[in-house]
Order: sequence, then structure tokens, then C-alpha cells
Amino acid sequence: MQAWKEYQDQNKDRFLDELLDLLRIPSVSADSKYKGDVARCAEAVKEHMLKAGCDKAEVCPTAGHPIVFGEKIVDPALPTVLVYGHYDVQPADPLNLWHSGPFEPVIKDGKIFARGACDDKGQMFMHIKALEVMSKTNTLSCNVKIMIEGEEEVGSSNLGKFLEDNKEKLKADIVLVSDTSMISMEHPSIESGLRGLAYMEVEVTGPNRDLHSGVYGGAVANPINILCKMIASLHDENNHITVAGFYDKVQELTAAERKALNDAPFDLKEYADELGVKEVWGEKGYTTLERTGIRPTLDVNGIWGGYTGEGAKTVLPSKAYAKISMRLVPNQVSGEISDLFTKHFESIAPAGVQVKVTAHHGGEPVVTPTDSHAYKAAAKALKTTFGKDPIPTRGGGSIPIIALFERTLGLKTVLLGFGLDNDNIHSPNEKYDVVNYFKGIETIPYFHKYFSEQ
Ligand code: BES
Ligand code: MN
Ligand code: MN
Repeated sequence: MQAWKEYQDQNKDRFLDELLDLLRIPSVSADSKYKGDVARCAEAVKEHMLKAGCDKAEVCPTAGHPIVFGEKIVDPALPTVLVYGHYDVQPADPLNLWHSGPFEPVIKDGKIFARGACDDKGQMFMHIKALEVMSKTNTLSCNVKIMIEGEEEVGSSNLGKFLEDNKEKLKADIVLVSDTSMISMEHPSIESGLRGLAYMEVEVTGPNRDLHSGVYGGAVANPINILCKMIASLHDENNHITVAGFYDKVQELTAAERKALNDAPFDLKEYADELGVKEVWGEKGYTTLERTGIRPTLDVNGIWGGYTGEGAKTVLPSKAYAKISMRLVPNQVSGEISDLFTKHFESIAPAGVQVKVTAHHGGEPVVTPTDSHAYKAAAKALKTTFGKDPIPTRGGGSIPIIALFERTLGLKTVLLGFGLDNDNIHSPNEKYDVVNYFKGIETIPYFHKYFSEQ
């Protein structure tokens, strides 16, 4: 639509400046040191919602960080789109690997560098700007509700209750989320599924205190050695996960579904080169796209114990620790997998050590339909602005609340993401391409338009 493009072009610089201002707020949800900044960010998001034309917007307190909710009701008889996103970000460390400050956004080579540039401030802000475009040009063809939370990166533990308590307020026909990636600007795509997550922490205890590794070494089980052995045994020679019962519920795809998945444009050499690895790694019998899209995984996220300071200290440590996450696929259940892992991990511990396993947050996998009116509206919107039909893909990441939208509110979701896999989300030098930001703002109004044409 001409009016949208004109309005966007006339306000381009401001649209960018406003995003940069938002990126300057270090809204790190995991670190209590930033609690005030998280709250400040919520206020800023609320102000932007009002400026974009929301009839009302509010910062809703929770037991953790606040949720920002706004809405513009054009006509209760029209369909309603519930936009979801998050204004919280991951911690920025390791700081020394950033080329510029994580909360001092810079634009270089057409890319915005900052923590949250892509995940998810840049992407959720496209929806606020798209709402501004539609309301200022009097072209909004449906009702819009926007819910932007501040705890996605720490497991959304208070959002589930918010959904339960606010079913009426959140009443809608579809959930629209931009917090995923697409293949490339040349190949627009829509993720039609996300993996679930089970996140564990393990503690292995050997002797009752740290020991001299000469005096006692060789006579007592070293918990770090043991932990490494236990972790190594969690994959077999084919890189299958050995946790008993782990694959019992895994849904196998049909040959046709697997073929469709592997038909997506993908260059294995380019993929490996870009990551700086000579060869990819993974479960035997599956391609890389299958390994990240439709297969469950188990990875150590962190491991520590003993002496890690400067120089050498000869010590046989008393304890060793690791954080281990598992990505889940339909129909695995996060709680069940946590239990299976706990039992398995306890069962493989030798008698010389004690293990303690605890579960952190989790989330359920989701698959979104690709034959629905909403999916077709998203596909048509991308076709309109990219000139190409989008390819359905499966995303490897997790957004735990999506499963609850369906379970609690009875709502399906469309994952209209504009990030790229190499945007360095959760990493140093996170970036979001300026063109992706503007393409998102351009595309979103078309979703609303086509979705309203029931
Ligand atoms: N936006 C990501 C998830 C994502 C990224 C999905 C790219 C698909 C493609 C989200 O913010 C995220 O990082 N989720 C966490 C889970 C959460 C419980 C910490 C994840 O996937 O690790
Ligand atoms: Mn995200
Ligand atoms: Mn994230």
C-alpha cells in the first residue's frame, strides 16, 4: 500500500533512532543488578505503544519483571491479532569480545550492533512501528493487542499465570510473533515449529573436601574426571543420546515431510565455513537441517570445578558441576524428560561419588499449522514485500510461552521472524540488519490486512 510506504519513508530516521534509544537500556532479565533498567525499559515500551496509536497501554507488575500490554480496538466485530515479543535481553558477557559496547548501539555496514538488536527488541519494535504506520494512515483493518514481556530470556515463569488471570483481556484470533529467523533476504521463510527445552544442573561430589592431588591422587575418585566420563557417555558412537527412554515419544517425520524440510536452500560448506569448523557434527542418519529442526539434542552449556585461576594449583577437587540442556521435539514433554535425565544420570554415577541433579526452567515444543488462514496471510504478506513465496522451515530455538498460548488461550501462533541465523543472538556482537528491520515494518501491515480478509 502506497500510504504505508510513504509514511515509513518519511519517518525512517526516527524509526531507527527510537530503536537505538531502546537498545541503550540494558534490560538484562537474568541479573538483578539491572532490575531498574528492566523496569525503565518496560516504561519506554509502554510510551511507544501509546505514541503508536494504542487506545491504552499499561505496565503490568508480576512477581518478576513487568509485562507491557497495549491495545487498539478498531471495532470489536473485527478479528484481533495478539502480538507477542520480549523487551528483556540476555547478559552481554563476555564483554571483551564485543567490538563496541553492547548497550551503545552502532550502525556499521548496514547492521545495528547491540545486545537485543535482533533478539528481540529490534523485532518486537517492528510491530510497534507497524502499528504506528497503520494507525497514522487510518488503515488498520483489525484490532491489535500487544503483549511484550520482560522474562522470556529467563523462562517466562510469570507469564503463564498472567495468561490464566487475563483470558478476557488477551482474547484474540491469532498470536503473531517476530522472534525467530528466516533463511535470508533472498529466501524468505516462516518457521513452522520450535523445539522445547529441559534444562538441568548437576553436581558431583567426591571427597568431603579439596585434597592435595599428590597425597591423595589415584586413590580417590576425582569428581571432575568422573563428571567428564558421565557426560561423554550421554552420546553413543552415532551421537544418539543414551538417556534411557529419551526417544520413546519422539515423533518421526514421514519421508515426504523430511524431503520438504531438506528442499530448503542450504549450503553445508558455507554453513561450516561461516562457523569456522572443518566439519559439522551430529546424530547419524540425519541432515544438518533435520538435526536442528526435528531432532532432540543434549548439550553441556557450562562446566566448572576445581582450580581455574592463574597458574597451576595441584588440587583434587571435592565437587564438579555442569549445566546441561536438552532441546525437545514433538511429542516429548519437558517434565518427563527432566525426570528421565535425573534417573539416568543418577544410575550411571559410580559408587565413589554422589550426584545431585536439579531441573531449571523448561518449555514444550510447538508445531504451527502451515495450512491455516493465518499462515497463508503471513505467506502472502512476505510474498508481497519480498516478491517470493516463503519456505516453511523448522526452528531450533525455543519460546516456551508459545505452547501455553495454545493450552491456556486456545490460540495458534504465526512465527513471522526477520532475524538471520548469523545475527549472533546470545553472543558477542549481536546485530540486526537495518534492511531486515524496515522490511519487517513494511511486511507486518500486510499480515493484518490479509488476516482481516476472512
Ligand atoms: N528468540 C529466541 C528463540 C529463537 C531464536 C527461536 C532463533 C528460533 C530462532 C528466544 O529469545 C530464546 O533465546 N529462547 C531461549 C529459551 C529460553 C527459555 C531461555 C532458547 O531458545 O534458548
Ligand atoms: Mn527471543
Ligand atoms: Mn533469546
